Amino acid sequence: MTEFTSEEISSLEKRYKANLINSVTGYKSANLIGSISENSISNLAVFNSILHIGSSPALIGFVLRPLTVERHTYANIKSSQFYTVNQIHSGIIEQAHQTSARYATEVSEFGKTGLNEEYVKHISAPFVKESKVQIACKYVNEYEIKENGCLLMIGQIEMLRVQEKLIQADGWVDHMAANTASILGLDGYAEGKLINRFAYARPDEPIKVL
Ligand SMILES: Cc1cc2nc3c(=O)[nH]c(=O)nc-3n(C[C@H](O)[C@H](O)[C@H](O)COP(=O)(O)O)c2cc1C
Repeated sequence: MTEFTSEEISSLEKRYKANLINSVTGYKSANLIGSISENSISNLAVFNSILHIGSSPALIGFVLRPLTVERHTYANIKSSQFYTVNQIHSGIIEQAHQTSARYATEVSEFGKTGLNEEYVKHISAPFVKESKVQIACKYVNEYEIKENGCLLMIGQIEMLRVQEKLIQADGWVDHMAANTASILGLDGYAEGKLINRFAYARPDEPIKVL
């Protein structure tokens, strides 16, 4: 095993350290957050930190980097309250990655990448038409992570849009059939392979494959 102590980690070269720490925890979900500014300019950015917060109420969160530079996604969420979380699949990974480039406020990443925006009912934020799993969220709260100035953003799920064939009879979304991508570090895109689904685990009962 190659070992790194916390002192050794602190003194690693900057890029090497970023790659090591970003990738060491493994596969992350890959999503595009869509939002819209007060001047009606749409915005799209790749995020690998979307996480489940709870089912009742249905809440999801994501980690936003410190507000030391302009953060369009954050500004748009605060002004409009709405944002969308759109699945990245293997067919759109290049466009998705390009959204991380630092475009000016008045430039829409939709136009720059060729991904299409789609508007639905009362949700003011744009969905990504190409995504097979789409979530609309309403801003609920934010928590500062005091140790590094990042924000944990909490959103309530206002609407789910999932390709019909991807939802199994028990509600489970089949991300294999959707070719959903996951992210390794800040630059690796992968596709997952299901090994098994298991029934609810109970003490001293054998594991049951679903
Ligand atoms: C693979 C990948 C994952 C990213 N994940 C996050 C993330 O979870 N949180 C974050 O604040 N920025 C993340 N970023 C950086 C944003 O995509 C980038 O800062 C983007 O320009 C933000 O756009 P905005 O200013 O329009 O919101 C990630 C970048 C890449 C390439």
